[in-house]
Amino acid sequence: MLRKLCLFYVVAAVTCLASDPNTGAGKSELLDLSNSDLGPDMLPLAENLVWQQSEPSVGKEKPMANATGSDHKKNTTLIDDKLHNNATSSTNTTETKPSGTQARPPQMTGCRTQGQIAVTYSEGPSDATAKIVKNLNNADARANFFFNASWLYTQQYAMVVQNIYQAGHFVGMTYRVKNDNSSFWTDDEIREDILGHARTIETLINVSPKYVRLHYTPEPDLRVEAILHDLGFVLVGYNLDSQDYSHKEAAGPNSIQDVYRQTFFHQKDTYDAKGSFISIQYDIPDTGALVAVPFMIDAINDGGYTMVRLDGCLNDPTPYKKSADSKEYVGDRFSFNSSDYHQGQKAIAPEALVVEPKEDDGMFIKKKNDAGASSVSWLLLVSPMVLLSSFF
Ligand SMILES: *[C@@H]1O[C@H](CO)[C@@H](O)[C@H](O)[C@H]1NC(C)=O
Ligand SMILES: *[C@@H]1O[C@H](CO)[C@@H](O)[C@H](O)[C@H]1NC(C)=O
Ligand SMILES: *[C@@H]1O[C@H](CO)[C@@H](O)[C@H](O)[C@H]1NC(C)=O
Ligand SMILES: *[C@@H]1O[C@H](CO)[C@@H](O)[C@H](O)[C@H]1NC(C)=O
Ligand SMILES: *[C@@H]1O[C@H](CO)[C@@H](O)[C@H](O)[C@H]1NC(C)=O
Ligand SMILES: *[C@@H]1O[C@H](CO)[C@@H](O)[C@H](O)[C@H]1NC(C)=O
Ligand SMILES: *[C@@H]1O[C@H](CO)[C@@H](O)[C@H](O)[C@H]1NC(C)=O
Repeated sequence: MLRKLCLFYVVAAVTCLASDPNTGAGKSELLDLSNSDLGPDMLPLAENLVWQQSEPSVGKEKPMANATGSDHKKNTTLIDDKLHNNATSSTNTTETKPSGTQARPPQMTGCRTQGQIAVTYSEGPSDATAKIVKNLNNADARANFFFNASWLYTQQYAMVVQNIYQAGHFVGMTYRVKNDNSSFWTDDEIREDILGHARTIETLINVSPKYVRLHYTPEPDLRVEAILHDLGFVLVGYNLDSQDYSHKEAAGPNSIQDVYRQTFFHQKDTYDAKGSFISIQYDIPDTGALVAVPFMIDAINDGGYTMVRLDGCLNDPTPYKKSADSKEYVGDRFSFNSSDYHQGQKAIAPEALVVEPKEDDGMFIKKKNDAGASSVSWLLLVSPMVLLSSFF
């Protein structure tokens, strides 16, 4: 597989192993999602996600080493609630002021309207995506997908993105600077890398993502954040962590469903108000995100929340960029305030909430690249420059 990839890169006139041995190693590790020994880079670890819970300027909290501890969750929720979940007095962004003088670009962490929840999936597409979407569609619910453009050179995944977009789900982008360290790159290189990813997605859906979720780094990368902001992208965090990286059961005390239920309960118990949420799941077969979908929707429905697209969450009628290279924001027919905008969900039928007897995890854990190994180069024909720029 690695050999095929390298061959592909050679074709693309980019050296695969020679210039950066880590790239090759990282790839093979990434593509081998079939077993559980994912590298720490790939497996979304709890401790890797804390900062994105938002660091409000009033909060003195440092990112914590253990995000699964319920105390931490509570504290984070409290702070987020105060800042974001009160429709009458709320801000919908987090203006974070790190120790430096530079103000951080705002990061969306809640909706503008109480009772709304924008469910997000990061870092797909994967072999789980189409099934996740099927389950969402069964409930006539829309979700938000922050895609990793690196996967979209595989035709199957590219089509998944197009189908999801056409079905009215919201498309954003994840971004991760190579080696997780921007100091190796010039501003221009980072800019080109970001734009290359956005152009790839634009190729598929004719508009460019505007909303971006950054991959975790131990310290927020203010430079990358600032560059994204300058290019017209808007950062999206979250205030409800589904913990799908550790919660793999569909229902029960340690399930994703329970995380949602507990969060809603805590919110109402503390504030006597619903608040609003942007939740996060990982669109990766190894997490519990897939089996959880109907159960998650059930919890949302029970809690009296409305599932919304991010544009509905933020009241943003222009949730895309006209093109990757443009700073002009545009809407499409699915956008908030447009004809085909849809929010809300249907109740889940009881028969969809039967927990399947636990079979071998292999059921869902297909190799991420099983389907794609033979098809990497199709997009190369479409836009070679995009490809080159995204592996500078
Ligand atoms: C994280 O916190 C939970 C609950 O407080 C605890 O049970 C668990 O051992 C902690 N994990 C680590 C790695 O510290
Ligand atoms: C939660 O907040 C309380 C009060 O601010 C603090 O005493 C406690 O240590 C916090 N817990 C965690 C896990 O941060
Ligand atoms: C918003 O917050 C204020 C002050 O905390 C509170 O008095 C008010 O009831 C809250 N409104 C809602 C809708 O929760
Ligand atoms: C909330 O977001 C909207 C854009 O969706 C923006 O116009 C408004 O200023 C924001 N409000 C606050 C308080 O940040
Ligand atoms: C996207 O996938 C590539 C591998 O194809 C990986 O190197 C990169 O870190 C991923 N980006 C994000 C944001 O997860
Ligand atoms: C990035 O790399 C530089 C040079 O190797 C190093 O000095 C710096 O500490 C690294 N930064 C992070 C956040 O890893
Ligand atoms: C939504 O559309 C109506 C009617 O076209 C318009 O008056 C309103 O300003 C729009 N709202 C937003 C947030 O764009």
